[in-house]
Amino acid sequence: MKDHILKDIVALFQVHPVKTIAQAFAGELEAALHRRESSLKMLPSYLSRPTGEEKGDYIAIDFGGSNVRVMAVSLCGNGRSTITKQLSRPLVSIEQGYDLTSAASTGRDMFAFVAEMVEEVLAKGHRYQLGLTFSYPMEQEAVDRARLLEWTKEIKTSATVGKDIGVLLTEALKERGLGQVMPVAIINDTVAAFMAGAYVDPAVCAGSICGTGHNTCCIEPSLPAPSGLPMVVNLEAGNFALLPENHYDRRLDRLSLDPGKQRLEKMVSGKYLGELFRLVLLDLIEQQLVPPPQRCPNSIDKPYMVGAEVLSWMRAESPLLKERLNSWLSQHGFAHYQDHDIAVLRTIGNAIVDRAAYLIAATFLAVSERSGTSGNRRAVAVDGSVFLHIPGFAETVETVIRKHQEKPHTVELMPVIDGSNLGAAVAAAQAKRYK
Ligand code: GLC
Repeated sequence: MKDHILKDIVALFQVHPVKTIAQAFAGELEAALHRRESSLKMLPSYLSRPTGEEKGDYIAIDFGGSNVRVMAVSLCGNGRSTITKQLSRPLVSIEQGYDLTSAASTGRDMFAFVAEMVEEVLAKGHRYQLGLTFSYPMEQEAVDRARLLEWTKEIKTSATVGKDIGVLLTEALKERGLGQVMPVAIINDTVAAFMAGAYVDPAVCAGSICGTGHNTCCIEPSLPAPSGLPMVVNLEAGNFALLPENHYDRRLDRLSLDPGKQRLEKMVSGKYLGELFRLVLLDLIEQQLVPPPQRCPNSIDKPYMVGAEVLSWMRAESPLLKERLNSWLSQHGFAHYQDHDIAVLRTIGNAIVDRAAYLIAATFLAVSERSGTSGNRRAVAVDGSVFLHIPGFAETVETVIRKHQEKPHTVELMPVIDGSNLGAAVAAAQAKRYK
């Protein structure tokens, strides 16, 4: 009986034919391009493919995960780059008493914080062009003008939605007396992953983030950038909605800050994978498939108590990661769990993570069909903790793609590390040519 219930729960996370989802995604892409109703967007970046020969010293900012990172990046051409200085600070620090993601903070506070970090990275006496990777939906009318459409990933900072991020940043830099730093490019993190990948490999036709959030950008052959070449467009793929949902997905969505939105993101990204697992676990406990937790201060009753790393440890073979899982289980009231209870948790964790990999593979199939490059190879540059760090995730995406690709071209995945910073520098180098 218990096995049967577990099987039914796992079945809820099985993906309907990958092809059907890929086709639905392709249909939404087409609709967005022709401005028909669609859960996808086609947000222009005003940038095209880099040549790989971009050179110079830039300040690059990565804003969009749990930390803000500022780097001085030297592009050396031939797809080579070096990082000369870097700084990283959390957006929320309980010890230091600030939370830039809460409604009590404003966009001005956010960018004052960023400008202070920029000052620490600068070499005195230099003039710099700056690229900012800002990982939220923005509407752009030029590469350095970007109005924030809405917050995603559960951010609530006030007085920012509807404002131009370029203006907020420029004002904050001026207020700090940093007139020698000129923001020239503001890009989404998917565009940054694309730039970082395409800087080294001309087969890259799309960029994606599989991390705290999820999204994809691609080259759109029918839209020219100021260079005259096809433009990179941000799809805000996390909002893709033509998906089969189960009652856990619906519950998670209902309790989120933006019900009805970011449906794909809520099934695949690091912000939500652990929360889905937590909802299933509460249900398993209620249905007596696993024992109730012991009373403990770190109760899993609180939303978002389970991070995606827990699902990662469940898939790991290494003794170190198994040890981490055991210590997490003890700290959260599951010290009494037997091997067979832990096996149930693993089965659920794997089903949630595998579904994410299948869904992402389906969207990559759709995108790579549309965004051709000249040769036979087509590559998607992918950054983000889910893709880079969850054991077996990238391999599953790859296997699903290999199984379903039909065209004469091959679709490859290119892991990108630190794409947001390198990509911001490459974008700044490209943008300055059109100034
Ligand atoms: C969210 C944002 C999107 C970003 C993605 C990855 O989906 O809306 O702009 O690219 O997270 O960080």
